[in-house]
Amino acid sequence: MRVRILGAGIVGLSVADELIRRGHEVELVDPSPGAGASYAAAGMLSPAGEAWYGEEDLTRLCLSSLALWPDFAARLGVPVHTRGTLLVGVDAGDVQQVERQLAVLDLAGVSYERLVRRELLAREPGLGRVAGGAFLAEDHSVDPRAVVAALIDRLPTLVEPGERQQAGVETNTVASSEAGDRVGLDTDSFVPHESGSTSEVTVIATGAQLPDPYSSLIRPVRGDVVRVRTQEPVERTVRAWVHGEQVYVVPRTDSDEVVIGATSEERDGPLLPTVEGVWRLLDSARRVVPALDRASVVEVTSRHRPGTADNLPLIGPTHEPGVVLAAGAFRNGILLAPLIARLVADHIETGSVEPAVDPRRFRTKEDG
Ligand code: GLY
Repeated sequence: MRVRILGAGIVGLSVADELIRRGHEVELVDPSPGAGASYAAAGMLSPAGEAWYGEEDLTRLCLSSLALWPDFAARLGVPVHTRGTLLVGVDAGDVQQVERQLAVLDLAGVSYERLVRRELLAREPGLGRVAGGAFLAEDHSVDPRAVVAALIDRLPTLVEPGERQQAGVETNTVASSEAGDRVGLDTDSFVPHESGSTSEVTVIATGAQLPDPYSSLIRPVRGDVVRVRTQEPVERTVRAWVHGEQVYVVPRTDSDEVVIGATSEERDGPLLPTVEGVWRLLDSARRVVPALDRASVVEVTSRHRPGTADNLPLIGPTHEPGVVLAAGAFRNGILLAPLIARLVADHIETGSVEPAVDPRRFRTKEDG
């Protein structure tokens, strides 16, 4: 098949990689590959940490995708940080929030180890005044920027618009800019049915900004993320409740970088980190990991997560023949990327659809 993929974030790139592996011809279109939500993401592969009431289908999909990650990462030559995740609460109310999370995991049949303060400190001596928590042994992390770079490396050289590749993929970068410069996306670059295109299928993987008529299916949920460098990193991801605020601290295995995230806001306004957002993140993070007081702030980034009305992704056919969505991965785009790639490729080859994520469960503006 000849497949045109709109969007070269981790989802579009993973779909391209999977389709090329299966022998299809791919054209990838993006003004700035890897510069959207993939650029901000902390890279938690965290089905348990993200599980919540009423989201059983999402947890099931996240667990399925987690199982694909070891092979996916090995193929890309990217390490997975497998030291697990600590879920912690700072005060008694925060520990109650942790207990709510653990009750969700009980319902989902996901195992964990409940830990008292002394046990938490034995696992992670860098923790501050935590009151209790749990260990999620299977919640891992990767560096999304390394994954995106590895995926791009596997594609033939990126080319400017109009140029064409001989190989199995044509990568059409509509504009080139430093990844970090891009805070918005001109969806006019992404036209599902471009005249002159010889593609048999178009896959839309443009994150929080889908072209019409699909734009209304996505609700952008902005997140501010802070990157710091420290000589005193934590050993594993720490997800914390801090006097009612949520924060996560994700160390990288191969560098001194630690990612602190993320705010979650549904509002309009410029896509720039806010003083309040950054202050809340740093204030919470330094209470949980006091050594962060000595870390150097190296980057503050803000991007939109691609949320949907039911928090489940949109993967599969639309009402337009030949137009497939690979969208709406919301808080789990990194984790879900290999599963989305597999589902999209399976759909293109066999017509199969996973009912829970079928985009046709929603009406678009054009459907009326
Ligand atoms: N999965 C983490 C976040 O969306 O902030």
